[in-house]
Amino acid sequence: MKFSQLPVLALAATALAAPPVQKRAGGCSSAVKLDASTNVWKKYTLHANSFYRGEIEAALSSMDESTAAKAQEVAKIGSFLWLDTIENINKLQPVLDDGVPCDHILGLVIYDLPGRDCAAKASNGELKVGELSKYKTQYIDVVASLLKANPNTAFALVIEPDSLPNLVTNSDVQACKNSAAGYRDGVAYALKTLNLPNVVMYLDAGHGGWLGWDANLKPGAQELAKAYKAAGSPKQFRGIATNVAGWNSWDMSPGEFASASDAKYNKCQNEKIYVTEFGAALKSAGMPNHAIIDTARNGVQGLREEWGNWCNVKGAGFGIRPTSSTGSDLADAFVWVKPGGESDGTSDSSAVRYDSFCGKSDAYQPSPEAGQWHQAYFEDLINNANPSF
Ligand code: BGC
Repeated sequence: MKFSQLPVLALAATALAAPPVQKRAGGCSSAVKLDASTNVWKKYTLHANSFYRGEIEAALSSMDESTAAKAQEVAKIGSFLWLDTIENINKLQPVLDDGVPCDHILGLVIYDLPGRDCAAKASNGELKVGELSKYKTQYIDVVASLLKANPNTAFALVIEPDSLPNLVTNSDVQACKNSAAGYRDGVAYALKTLNLPNVVMYLDAGHGGWLGWDANLKPGAQELAKAYKAAGSPKQFRGIATNVAGWNSWDMSPGEFASASDAKYNKCQNEKIYVTEFGAALKSAGMPNHAIIDTARNGVQGLREEWGNWCNVKGAGFGIRPTSSTGSDLADAFVWVKPGGESDGTSDSSAVRYDSFCGKSDAYQPSPEAGQWHQAYFEDLINNANPSF
C-alpha cells in the first residue's frame, strides 16, 4: 500500500522543500550531547517535522476555511516521524534539510522488525520472520549512520511499538511465537546500535490496558529489562514510551473502564497510574523507568466499547499538546507519536491487511490502509480536539 501512496506524499514533500520555501536556519553549531540521566524535554521542544507538515498542507484544499485554519495550527505542533520501512528511511533527509533548530529534538519511530505486528494484521511489515540480518544491516545500521552523520541534531527515538508487549501477552499466537526470538534480538540490537550521544531512547511499553494488568506488570518489566541488558545497558536509554498510537487518558479518574467487571485486576486505569506502577516494576527489574506518553489522539474519552479496541476510534480528538509539564517526576513529557490523520488500518474486509478490529462498530469506516492519509478522520480529530483549536 505504501508504494502506491508514497509518490503522492513524496511529491507533496518535494513541493514544500522546493523554492520559494528556503532551507531554514537552525541546527546547533557543535555536537549535541544528551544526558539521558536527566529529562531532555525540559530543554528541547519536539520538532514539527516537514513530512507531517507536507501531509497536512496537501490536505488543506479539501477542507472548509475554519478547519483549514486549525489544520495549519496542527502542522506547527511537534510529532514523531515513523521510519516504518527501509525505503521510508528516505523520509529523514528532507526533514533534516528543512532545518531542526538547536532547541528542538527530532522524534523518530523505529518500526521495522521482522514479522512486525504479530498479533494483528493491519501493520504487518515488509520484513519476514528470519530476515533479522536484513533488519540489522539494511535498516538499523542505515538509520544509525544517518544519526551519526548529524551530530549537531538531537533525536528522540521510540523503539518498536507493540513488539515486546506482544511477547508478554500474545505468546500463544503462532505468529508471535515465530517472531519472538527476532524481536528480542532485534530490539537489543537497535538499542545498542542507536546508542549515540545525540540520541535519547525510549522502548515501547504498550499502555495501561495492556501491560497494566496485575498479572502482566512484572513479566512485562522483565521482558523489557532483558532487552535493555542484552543491549549492554546503553547510556542513552531513558525508559519507556506508553500509549503509542493509543487512546487512553493521562489522568481521568475513575478511568474510562474502571467500572468494567474485570477492572479489579488492573490498577492502571489511566496512563498516569500505569507509568507509576510499571515504572516501579521496571526499577525492580533493573531498568531506567522514565516515560513519554503519546497524547496525540486521546482528547475525547468514552468512545471505545472495549479497552483493547485500537483502530481509528470514531469520534476521537487531538489531545494534550507536547509538553514537559506533566506533573509527574516519572513522566518526562507528553508527546505526539502517532501523526493524527494517518490511518491505523483499513476497513476493507477484502484487503490482505484487513484486521477485524477495523470493522468494529467503534472504528471509523471507511478507512484506508495503516499509515495512509485519512482525510475525514483528520478533520474529526481537529474538530473534536481537547484542548480545542
Ligand atoms: C503503520 C505505519 C505508520 C504508522 C504511523 C502504523 O500503524 O503501520 O505504516 O507509519 O502507523 O502512522
